[in-house]
Amino acid sequence: MIILAIETSCDETSAALVMNGRRILSNVVSSQEKVHGKYFGVVPELASRAHIENINWVYEAALKNARLTTNDIKKRVDAVAYTHGPGLAGALLVGQVTAQTISYLNDKPLVDVNHLEGHIYSALLEYPGLCPPYLSLIVSGGHTELVLVYDYGRYKVLGSTRDDAAGEAFDKVAKMLNLSYPGGPVIDKLSKKGNPEKIKFPRPYLWPTWEFSFSGLKTAVVNFVKNSGALDKSKVADICAAFQQAVVDTLAEKTIQAAKKFKMKKVVIGGGVAANSLLRDELVKRAKKEKIEVYLPSRALCTDNASMIACAGYYKYISGKKKYKNWKTRKIEPNLKLKSWHNR
Ligand code: KG4
Ligand code: ZN
Repeated sequence: MIILAIETSCDETSAALVMNGRRILSNVVSSQEKVHGKYFGVVPELASRAHIENINWVYEAALKNARLTTNDIKKRVDAVAYTHGPGLAGALLVGQVTAQTISYLNDKPLVDVNHLEGHIYSALLEYPGLCPPYLSLIVSGGHTELVLVYDYGRYKVLGSTRDDAAGEAFDKVAKMLNLSYPGGPVIDKLSKKGNPEKIKFPRPYLWPTWEFSFSGLKTAVVNFVKNSGALDKSKVADICAAFQQAVVDTLAEKTIQAAKKFKMKKVVIGGGVAANSLLRDELVKRAKKEKIEVYLPSRALCTDNASMIACAGYYKYISGKKKYKNWKTRKIEPNLKLKSWHNR
């Protein structure tokens, strides 16, 4: 079964074709980093425009890379999936209209997918034997969530962020230090040259909850920078390393404690911040001690892409094919929450 998927929820325009929910036939991603870089954050209006400019060639490239033409869709593709939320309204609309048009023209079922489910399942595309139950840590520019994944489509959200998402904190600290956007990759790189022990930033654990909060940590970095005077390269590297260590300690500790408490033997991460090298190393190190397995998608599958939407769409589609016949009644949901669609 082949699913064609479209993802446009934020600043990546992406189209993909995936076989049986697991094997990527193609996954084309056009990033808008250059468009938003000078504003140090995603500008919604510019994101919608860039999606409109790019969606056609991204879609055509995805078909070409899978060795298909538009004429093959009727015969070879089983369903069209797209991200219907959460995300930026104008950006989501571009993906929805595109997916709806492909579905209409080819008489294919249309499956609406929650973007967060994409991140929850992205590791499945690289680990053929991986399946629920597992604990999912979603860490991106818009979300920080710990989710118990009991089964495909059956979730319990343990905790989310009360304020800034982890990626948002990376981006804001990078802006404060006059680095580039997005902040995560540059802080990750500079941290390797810094000493995380030189400055002690707070760890916002928020026990006994499973929630997160990164705005206090961000303020601690602001105050430190304000009181530091001129910053040379090595001081900037130390600030990056100390900030990154505080975020990673918090994320890794809460994740491992949750896995122990809820007896999950597998931890799966997703979202842009899951590309962070220290977070990956720390999780592996801490999980090993507890005999917990950690599944790390490659960096390209951590950030937004349509193959993860195809994977989630596949499991949703096979659970109730009849529901997805009617393509007319779809709408986008910018504030969509994670909901179960399976009651098994
Ligand atoms: O999942 P994603 O591509 O988009 C959202 O759904 O938000 O995540 C983007 C976020 C940005 O905040 C970016 O700074 C962060 O992921 N990010 C990283 C790294 N690579 C990307 N954060 C920390 N370390 C990284 N290596
Ligand atoms: Zn995302």
